[in-house]
Amino acid sequence: MEKLEITSSIGNSTILAGETLQNVVQYMPDKKTAIITDTHVYELYADSFPSADVVIQLQPGESYKTMDSLSLIFDELVAHEFDRSSFILAIGGGIVCDVAGFAASIFMRGIEFGFVSSTLLSQVDASVGGKNGVNFRGYKNMIGNFNLPSFVICDSHMLKTLPQEEILCGMGEVIKHGLIASLPLFEYIEQNTDKIHTDYPDIFTRFVYDSILIKSNVVNADAREQGERRKLNFGHTFGHAFEKIQKIPHGMAVGLGMVIAAKISVRRGLLAQDSAERIECLLEKIGMPTEINLSPEDLFSALKHDKKREGGDIHFVLLTGIGSSIVEKISLSELEKIIYDLY
Ligand SMILES: NC(=O)c1ccc[n+]([C@@H]2O[C@H](COP(=O)([O-])OP(=O)(O)OC[C@H]3O[C@@H](n4cnc5c(N)ncnc54)[C@H](O)[C@@H]3O)[C@@H](O)[C@H]2O)c1
Ligand SMILES: [Zn+2]
Repeated sequence: MEKLEITSSIGNSTILAGETLQNVVQYMPDKKTAIITDTHVYELYADSFPSADVVIQLQPGESYKTMDSLSLIFDELVAHEFDRSSFILAIGGGIVCDVAGFAASIFMRGIEFGFVSSTLLSQVDASVGGKNGVNFRGYKNMIGNFNLPSFVICDSHMLKTLPQEEILCGMGEVIKHGLIASLPLFEYIEQNTDKIHTDYPDIFTRFVYDSILIKSNVVNADAREQGERRKLNFGHTFGHAFEKIQKIPHGMAVGLGMVIAAKISVRRGLLAQDSAERIECLLEKIGMPTEINLSPEDLFSALKHDKKREGGDIHFVLLTGIGSSIVEKISLSELEKIIYDLY
């Protein structure tokens, strides 16, 4: 088990990588407690849940990451007479944690909360950074806030029941962390590709710990996403286009976005050609798509609507090597030219 203390301008949090759901009770305050989970996680793990005053089960899926789910939670909390001194424990993936974290942040102007993070994506990405929220009228994460849970348990054993596609989605973000900031993490993934598809909780504890360390360093330097934090968007500018147009799951779409961003880095003389090939090779080896099946017109049109765009420029994350990155402003007109040259 690896412990990491996060201290940032928006608060403090303890992250426990490789700790188990069974031990969560050691970290919980002696308070009236509501557990928030989803029906999948409840079915699989209810026997290991700590005792609580109420267990609230959300329906799984992005279409339930809504204000209605918040209302359902508040109805239960009010019915069970929760107050400012109560505690919320979220047990689940990124959706459960985002919704429960937001509910806890605004119920009675904010009560204490903690997470047991049960998907690879939520362990490596959603567990750090303090972003909570819900979708609104189809707009992702439109309503939310920044607020940190007291603790996050990242239980690698829970990943055994996770569908392979969900593992690959998390791996997209793990590889991203290696590429932007850690050659050793990237090499560790390369050395363990055969274990990603089998039962090795230890490699996942390392993936999670290294990812959290990288993300927390970046977030600590820039909690509100002004400068350094932009590096976490590596692969996401184009990734969002694949996600939106081709309906490819987020982590895999980011994989494709990283392939393009690496190619652009080579074109700008920042990255060696063989490094770009090494990245593509790793993605292929673990079973992530690397073929771009989107026309340059569609790709450029999606970029024009990127919400992180500032006027005519996009802050684009490029690699200067495997494990090092920079953020450069690239104008839309230059990006258009680059996209057409890539085909
Ligand atoms: N707050 C952040 O910084 C942040 C970062 C990244 C993603 N997110 C958000 O996270 C969400 C995606 O997260 P996710 O992929 O974890 O989604 P999710 O919570 O929907 O989980 C994916 C599926 O796996 C199931 N599941 C969860 N744990 C399981 C387990 N151990 N075994 C078997 N099945 C399990 C869930 O029921 C669900 O069906 C998105 O809404 C995204 O916006 C937030
Ligand atoms: Zn992402």
